Amino acid sequence: MTAEWTTLLGGLRTEHRAVGAFNAIMIEHAEAIVAGAELSGLPVILQISQNAVRYHGTLAPFARACLQLASDATVPVLVHLDHVEDEDLIHEGLGLGITSVMFDASKLDYADNVARTRAVVERCHTNGCLVEAELGEVGGKDGAHAPGVRTDPGEAAAFVAATGVDSLAVAVGSSHAMTDRSAVLDEDLIAALAAAVPVPLVLHGSSGVNDDGLRGAVAAGIVKVNIGTRLNQVLTEAVRAVLGEREQLTDPRRYLAPGRDAVRDEVSRLLTVLAK
Ligand code: G3H
Ligand code: ZN
Repeated sequence: MTAEWTTLLGGLRTEHRAVGAFNAIMIEHAEAIVAGAELSGLPVILQISQNAVRYHGTLAPFARACLQLASDATVPVLVHLDHVEDEDLIHEGLGLGITSVMFDASKLDYADNVARTRAVVERCHTNGCLVEAELGEVGGKDGAHAPGVRTDPGEAAAFVAATGVDSLAVAVGSSHAMTDRSAVLDEDLIAALAAAVPVPLVLHGSSGVNDDGLRGAVAAGIVKVNIGTRLNQVLTEAVRAVLGEREQLTDPRRYLAPGRDAVRDEVSRLLTVLAK
């Protein structure tokens, strides 16, 4: 799995194309993300964030369901733990068969980020698991961080060399949890980072970037595009439309199925935008 995805991401990097990485909170998200990938015929990354684990209270049941969906899929699906700050959760994920994680030590100062990330990389690589890290904190994770932060190319190259990470999340103008797709990315900075860093670059907070902005980011060198909020927008809009018409509805399947279909279609559409 690790080698297959290292090759796949390396190929996308060379071709200036990208893969979508979508966040799942519930099984309906996960089903829709896999169905959307199958509809488009493209690989996908299925992400479970530490926050989603906290929502469920435990990792194993949802992670096992996602891993099963991935192994049954007709396209490559990589299950990835996203924005993990708790190293115990990474170790639990390794035990469950997770082969890709983002260790997020971006709130720490540079030296501590390097030291903690390098230790996680050593443990993950021993267990056949890829590691993404973040440098230059992407804003909006808990509302306390300015979206103006940028990743420095020289520091990014030094960070990758010092830690051995397999991919790097960079701050280039996006911010988490945006609902209006108005973010403007610094494409020159993306290109400079791509030239300086020998591993795939990851864009977080991509719900705030419109289709043209996504295309520009991919052309400049982004390889993995993380999208969460956008899926929740389309899911909730679809659910709201059904409930608005049928106030007496009580069976969740009646409103979750249209929500799941809407997410599937948006995943398929976005994957196609990123792969061109
Ligand atoms: O790691 C997840 C992503 O960065 C999602 O961000 O919800 O703003 O699309 P978003
Ligand atoms: Zn993120």
